[in-house]
Amino acid sequence: MVRRSCIVGVGSYLPAQVLTNKDLEARVDTTDEWITQRTGIRERHIAAEGEHTSDLALAAARQALERAGMPAQALDLIVLATTTPDHTFPATATKVQAALGMTGGAAFDVQAVCSGFIYALAVADNFIRSGQAKNALVIGAETFSRLLDWNDRTTCVLFGDGAGAVVLQAVEGEGTNDDRGVLSTHLHSDGRHYDLLWVDGGIALGRSGFVKMNGQEVFRHAVGRLAEVMEETLAFNGMDASQVDWLVPHQANRRIIDGAARKLKLSADKVVITVDRHGNTSAASIPLALAAAVDDGRIKTGDVVLMEAMGGGFTWGAALVRM
Ligand code: COA
Repeated sequence: MVRRSCIVGVGSYLPAQVLTNKDLEARVDTTDEWITQRTGIRERHIAAEGEHTSDLALAAARQALERAGMPAQALDLIVLATTTPDHTFPATATKVQAALGMTGGAAFDVQAVCSGFIYALAVADNFIRSGQAKNALVIGAETFSRLLDWNDRTTCVLFGDGAGAVVLQAVEGEGTNDDRGVLSTHLHSDGRHYDLLWVDGGIALGRSGFVKMNGQEVFRHAVGRLAEVMEETLAFNGMDASQVDWLVPHQANRRIIDGAARKLKLSADKVVITVDRHGNTSAASIPLALAAAVDDGRIKTGDVVLMEAMGGGFTWGAALVRM
């Protein structure tokens, strides 16, 4: 018997305030047409004043637990992916832990920027596979709007706020691709590209700073690395793209998503897109998209779902899951 982690609940949360491309036209020298054509983004959600990453994370976590039919006390692990924690320390995961009323187990944050959810899923999956955890909550939550220079049109139009969460439960099976669960996760990073997508602040500099990006270089690397890691993931499982029911990609840019899917010869109607409504919510984008497609009935129990992401570092990765 092989131990795997099964996704038994998915939840999401988006702040109430919606910022459209038209709204941005009033703030910076941009147009709805430019943003839509270059990125596919039409609108994004922005956290209210006083609404923090932990608040978004908690709302998504509560929904995921409710859908899993699992009390928070049953959890023995929380892994929260974020680049925008409430405080430098403690980990935002511990704030969520306390708010959920979970007093045992372990809770910590993972930082891999836009790849954060894949990294957090991989960490939790390995805890479960090794027998160190039974019931894990994996959250991606961001208030990325607070890292943006709202006078910089090259970055401020791209990002949004939100949170998504999944509940993982240990299950035993034959260890075949027909079993439900996380089939595999694959992580990569290459720190030589540290300054192609970064924040020009931090504790060492005494200020929080703003997102800086070489958009064209990020774009160029993203399509190639994402196609590679998806191929690696399918090959590891002895599967090909025709066996994938849904691609749930990190939602950074419609053109990156389409480019990577095309390289894999995945048909466009198998790709879950939320970037038009959410913008790039960094670590939150994959669980937000997953929740959207589970909620509207597209993704069903037993479906094979491929997830991929790339972010600052660079970091990138993929996961293959049978829901
Ligand atoms: N509105 C209007 N014009 C804008 C603009 C905006 N919001 N942002 C940039 N421009 C201008 C530039 O100043 C430039 O003008 P110029 O030709 O007069 O110099 C022109 O548009 C083209 O800029 P460029 O950077 O070459 O555009 P692009 O086609 O590369 O698109 C991105 C820019 C950011 C959309 C694209 O590079 C991209 O998506 N990169 C990846 C970003 C990403 O996904 N990051 C997160 C990864 S997790």
